[in-house]
Amino acid sequence: MSGLTVDLSRNGNVRNVDSHCTLSGVDELDFSKLLERERPRPLNMDRQRSFDERSINELSIGVSPRHTTRPENTSRFTDHLDSVYSPGKRSGLNTPRSSSDFETHPIVAEAWEALRRSLVYFRGQPVGTIAALDNSEEKFNYDQVFVRDFIPSALAFLMNGEPEIVKNFILKTLRLQSWEKKIDRFQLGEGVMPASFKVLHDPVRNNETLIADFGESAIGRVAPVDSGFWWIILLRAYTKSTGDISLAEMPECQKGMRLILSLCLSEGFDTFPTLLCADGCCMIDRRMGVYGYPMEIQALFFMALRCAMLLLKQDEEGKEFVERIAKRLHALSFHMRSYFWIDLKQLNDIYRYKTEEYSHTAVNKFNVIPDSLPEWIFDFMPTHGGYFIGNVSPARMDFRWFCLGNCVAILSSLATPEQSMAIMDLIESRWEELVGEMPLKVCYPAIESHEWRIITGCDPKNTRWSYHNGGSWPVLLWLLTAACIKTGRPQIARRAIELAENRLLKDNWPEYYDGKLGRYIGKQARKFQTWSVAGYLVAKMMLEDPSHLGMVSLEEDKQMKPLLKRSNSWTF
Ligand code: GLC
Repeated sequence: MSGLTVDLSRNGNVRNVDSHCTLSGVDELDFSKLLERERPRPLNMDRQRSFDERSINELSIGVSPRHTTRPENTSRFTDHLDSVYSPGKRSGLNTPRSSSDFETHPIVAEAWEALRRSLVYFRGQPVGTIAALDNSEEKFNYDQVFVRDFIPSALAFLMNGEPEIVKNFILKTLRLQSWEKKIDRFQLGEGVMPASFKVLHDPVRNNETLIADFGESAIGRVAPVDSGFWWIILLRAYTKSTGDISLAEMPECQKGMRLILSLCLSEGFDTFPTLLCADGCCMIDRRMGVYGYPMEIQALFFMALRCAMLLLKQDEEGKEFVERIAKRLHALSFHMRSYFWIDLKQLNDIYRYKTEEYSHTAVNKFNVIPDSLPEWIFDFMPTHGGYFIGNVSPARMDFRWFCLGNCVAILSSLATPEQSMAIMDLIESRWEELVGEMPLKVCYPAIESHEWRIITGCDPKNTRWSYHNGGSWPVLLWLLTAACIKTGRPQIARRAIELAENRLLKDNWPEYYDGKLGRYIGKQARKFQTWSVAGYLVAKMMLEDPSHLGMVSLEEDKQMKPLLKRSNSWTF
């Protein structure tokens, strides 16, 4: 078991202290070596098999019983190891696994059918999946292909050896990017990618056209900041999974990336390397107090920058971008790891912060007033564990926990290995709050009463423990599973998947669940929500064949390591 350090932790339990550092041996990236970029390789059986073998060994040591809340977990996990992580066993490439496979749940086949029903065709070619196939509710824009919603669908197809639809989607959205985008009389940046698009059929002319929404029709009129980032992340997933570099190397794709990057790397009045955003510009697409520097966007920004670095050609035009990306990554990771990170020690420091400090020696740089610490955080913070908080700006820290940002931080290695472990520790010790009966809370906790009135503007859809306000979203299962595999804790993912399996099909794949424990089908949740279906499938396939993780995961950059010495707020 080369390169794996096993440590007897304080209480004598075996811990895997750097299992994912070991996985990193597979694809190492160093920002300083800008020229030595990852070359995608085809996923052939041999490579997968050897990766699987490594994964078995690493993952079996990765169990950390220290924090498991159910003592039987360890043995359950070992049982599953035999069936799930057996070396030669992997998912079939062109057909979904048959339900007769003993480790495959019968709802997998149903999920594949639902996913296929959601396919959207443009001039005979599949180009995406519809957000929801629910005809019982008012459609609004749920009959469109959303860029962010398509990501789990795309991953499912890639994992199943069906890359064509992903390629079509990438090229189609790229064409939409080149449209002139105007809201009233104001023109949006060239690089903006749409939130969603739709195919219009004209039966008279027997013609099909596309319409796209860049925020000009969306409720609240916010442009999606996440779409461009997801597009780059997907391009890398496609390249990594198929080994086909030709798509990413097309001049159009290179230009598309550069346009997205121009938007987010431009210099202005900012004093922070994080990206300043309007409320509702990402998965949480309504007013929820995520304006400013939302964690979700920062994590996606970081991941997209790293993916772009791998995909950009070092030609005349690309070179300049690669250099700018390297600089930004350096500053961004320092800022996020230092100022967005919270654990018991950091919380204690903030609790005792002095205010009104001026000059470079200030400890409380953003002048956060300790009285603004919310009551709930003192109970929520476990002894072991930590997370990236929702937002940091002058005199404002949003301490809410956001699922997507924290998972993407693990996948992109924005989180250091220690921070990744701490995030997983937190999920384990706050299982009831964050997972409860249905994975996974989009954010925690919900905002209520006066705060809800002020922050959401009295939004009746986002009442406490519903929808974006502490609701539980099955789609997040794939992100949790990927993070679990990366940190060597697949048993957590397995528990979460089991919970979802008990209900998703029966409940017709709802968009979200309500309540503190996620017990109730969301008040206004769409049924047959495609990303609930695809998120489940991706989680399932990834657990079955952990080599899929490579599509959505980037290993730690060695250059970032010295940062650990500069701030020790996350060492326990
Ligand atoms: C909701 C979600 C958004 C999603 C859309 C389509 O608006 O908040 O994230 O993209 O539905 O499913």
